Amino acid sequence: MWGLNDDAAFKLTSRICGPSCDGQSARRLTEDERRQVVREQRSPYRPAFILGSMAISRERSAQLQTRAERFLPGGVDSPVRAFRAVGGHPPFVDQAEGAYLQDADGNRYVDLFGSWGPMLLGHAYPPVVQAIREAAGKSPSFGASTAAEADLAELVQRCYPSMEKMRFVSSGTEACMSAIRLARGFTGRPFVIKFEGCYHGHADALLVKAGSGVATFGIPGSAGVPEQTAMHTLALRYNDLPAVEAAFALHPEQIAAVILEPVVGNAGVIPPQPGYLAGLRRLTRRHGTLLIFDEVMVGFRLAAGGAQERFAGELDGPPDLTTLGKIVGGGLPVGVLGGRAEVMDYLAPLGPVYQAGTLSGNPLAMAAGVAMLTALLAGGGELYRRLEKTTAAIQEGVALLAAEKGIALTSNRVGSMFTWFFTPRPVQDFASASSSDAAAFARFHRAMLEHGVWLPPSQYEAAFVSAAHGDQEVELILQAARAALQAVAGSPTGTTP
Ligand SMILES: Cc1ncc(COP(=O)(O)O)c(C=O)c1O
Repeated sequence: MWGLNDDAAFKLTSRICGPSCDGQSARRLTEDERRQVVREQRSPYRPAFILGSMAISRERSAQLQTRAERFLPGGVDSPVRAFRAVGGHPPFVDQAEGAYLQDADGNRYVDLFGSWGPMLLGHAYPPVVQAIREAAGKSPSFGASTAAEADLAELVQRCYPSMEKMRFVSSGTEACMSAIRLARGFTGRPFVIKFEGCYHGHADALLVKAGSGVATFGIPGSAGVPEQTAMHTLALRYNDLPAVEAAFALHPEQIAAVILEPVVGNAGVIPPQPGYLAGLRRLTRRHGTLLIFDEVMVGFRLAAGGAQERFAGELDGPPDLTTLGKIVGGGLPVGVLGGRAEVMDYLAPLGPVYQAGTLSGNPLAMAAGVAMLTALLAGGGELYRRLEKTTAAIQEGVALLAAEKGIALTSNRVGSMFTWFFTPRPVQDFASASSSDAAAFARFHRAMLEHGVWLPPSQYEAAFVSAAHGDQEVELILQAARAALQAVAGSPTGTTP
């Protein structure tokens, strides 16, 4: 982990052994002791750059980017990481702990994207790291069943009672892709309804009006997706029940599934309007269509039981299928699809819908997931209350600063995820999210980064707060935002019209 310099190690060993103890004869530090020193070394938080006072160097990151570009398209393995929507060069990460990322040049940042969601308990959360170490010692993969799969399934089901049976896969994309195939196989119907701005991974059938990276790049779907594949995907406006009713009227007994992010995160955060989720449940039930909640992003984040727990009182029944990812793997690649047993049993080997994976249920990933969910369940309501409070302080604090400067900002938050949209309009769907001033956001993003806060690099993404964020981080973020909003206010497009 974080490099422990000799001086700091000596200070700690002296404290453990007493003043006569010298560094040479000191026993090796335990992992907990090393962490304690690291905490002390970094407290109070010392940014490598003092607000606005000096330009920070990212020379090493720039070299790494140049090298990466020789081998990887755009130098990345996932497009939004390239910072094309906000400009500037992405820092290369060296290591991270708690609420902080450290780049290859030694600069440190308060992390507000949390590996795009999984880091709910902060980086390098010790029980998760320990579980991965132990599992790795037994061999990283067997390609055969292990007890850990049912261990994790039991924990998932405790959080999500609607998932009577489930299957582990290796990504959120796989989970959603397989859920759609299963829904089509189970119902024998071809059409799927999704919603503009919702992203369900990059499987062909779902890459239609898909928010997130797709929106960032202005790609209407993607090259390489045959029309014949996309033609069975109906993309409707989110938060618009009459549009769904009209689609059912147009394609009677032809719609296999309605899939949605119950709280949109991939167009920036957009909450469901009152009655919307229950309305979808009633319509799908009436038409014999499966309702799929894609909780890859919100699962375990909005509550231990995700959106299904948070909105329990307004659902009119759980979805038929749920997809999960991100947090459930504790930072390792895990996706899950699960739901009603009679639907899940349509999967091979019991049923006719084929689905498989060499690394599905991987023992390292299962171990990380078990450690993560165990910690979440132990943290209980108190953990989620704290997340809510910290996130509100950040989201509302910056909104207030923007208002003081006359900058038009709409901020949407649900639990520990939020988005600052640079628009005066309420954001309720993808069209209103798109009214944001993306150039103003880009300036804000760059300035925040220069002041030690790393936001998701697109206007169409959610920011994520972790349990490792506390008062100190809130203060650092507000301090950075004060300066960054200046960069926005100074421009003609970033101010209130
Ligand atoms: C709601 C949602 N579904 C599916 C996915 C795809 O997951 P993955 O990137 O693990 O393939 C994402 C990824 O961000 C997501 O946010």
